[in-house]
Amino acid sequence: GAIYSAGVAGTRPRVPTAMRELEAQAMQAMSPEAGGYIAGGAGREDTMHDNLAAFRAWKIVPRVLRNVEHRDTSNTLLGMPLPMPMLTAPIGVLEMAHPDADLAVARAAGRARIPMIFSNQASVPMEACAEALGDTPRLFQLYWSRSDDLVRSFVERAERCGCRGIVLTLDTSMLGWRPRDLDLANLPFLRGMGIAQYTSDPVFRRELDLPLAGAAGNAPTTRLTWQALTVLRDLLRRTPGPLAEKLRTDWPRKAVRRFVATYSRPSLQWSDLARLRTMTSLPILLKGILHPLDARLAVEHGVDAIIVSNHGGRQIDGEIASLDALPAIAAEVRGQCPLLLDSGIRGGADVFKALALGASAVLLGRPYAYGLALAGEEGVAEVLRNVHAEFDLTMGLAGCTGVAGITAACVTRSS
Ligand code: FNR
Repeated sequence: GAIYSAGVAGTRPRVPTAMRELEAQAMQAMSPEAGGYIAGGAGREDTMHDNLAAFRAWKIVPRVLRNVEHRDTSNTLLGMPLPMPMLTAPIGVLEMAHPDADLAVARAAGRARIPMIFSNQASVPMEACAEALGDTPRLFQLYWSRSDDLVRSFVERAERCGCRGIVLTLDTSMLGWRPRDLDLANLPFLRGMGIAQYTSDPVFRRELDLPLAGAAGNAPTTRLTWQALTVLRDLLRRTPGPLAEKLRTDWPRKAVRRFVATYSRPSLQWSDLARLRTMTSLPILLKGILHPLDARLAVEHGVDAIIVSNHGGRQIDGEIASLDALPAIAAEVRGQCPLLLDSGIRGGADVFKALALGASAVLLGRPYAYGLALAGEEGVAEVLRNVHAEFDLTMGLAGCTGVAGITAACVTRSS
């Protein structure tokens, strides 16, 4: 209603409401590297496309004459109030899409009160985003580093930022085979992008300056020497001259090298989860579960929620579409913990279908990044608003007045 009224008054939306058009315009607005990184998937991108096809294969079967005048799209997840069952997915390196990056997303999400999941590969440190969010809930997405000290530091920072959960992403122990990035030789991290959570982290900075800090570790004298040297280095870096120049360019290069050496731990296994549990009492959400047996293991390991996701088809080409994995996981989990879903959410009707098949909420991914690329904070705000409005209309037109009414009886699968 608000969009049509504004149109009558002569104001059109800033970003297209049609998702295909939104993506097309965003691709025009971005550099080939940014567009390829954000829109690209693994291999032939079959899974990326299957994610959308899976949503198309499920059809909504509406009920009529059910008094849908008053509707409520809200629900709660792990104690967080959600205006609609949606959070923003963690997306790294948003500085490629827009200079305001994660900050613009935090401001828009804060306005809509839609919880935001901070990416471990963000372009803006979580502390700044937490501030921009106001009192809207936030979570931190973790990639388990080789350094447990760094993991502990990230988790502690997340707690200080008021995060309501740790989202441990499990499908990216190595980056997938992504031809669009490979053809452009584009790995943004190697150019120092998307590593702000690291470079703003005290433990990372200390590890970075080893052996300057002294391999002796935390001995008080070593620590003092290191602190003195750090102050001296920072002073020198700000003084004009060739030495300052060298320091200014050296540190980022060292930071990238250190990041590459530490960001991931492919040896991670189920038994490691207990260590994360000892680091925090926050809810732990596992992201990237597709197999029902892994969902069962997750429940057995006492995790607080499961995020059914194939990372937007960016990791394994040919793997199962996220929505296709949901019913079997829901049957295995039988309500023992909430299920979330992402990969392929492109509008409110998709949110409806995911809920009908057993999800408690979804994560919105690429669409908000496209809104960001086109119009910064306003672009993200419009995309969030549009998905919410479409969800509200779909729910009502399908005969439901609230989220609890969205059940398996609302959908059918076409052959
Ligand atoms: C991602 N995703 C992601 N996931 C994560 O846990 N940490 C991260 O840093 C990132 N980074 C990232 C960058 C880009 C450019 C994309 C597109 C995705 C995955 C993301 O959280 C989510 O799973 C997917 O975006 C879902 O797929 P769709 O719906 O966006 O296609």
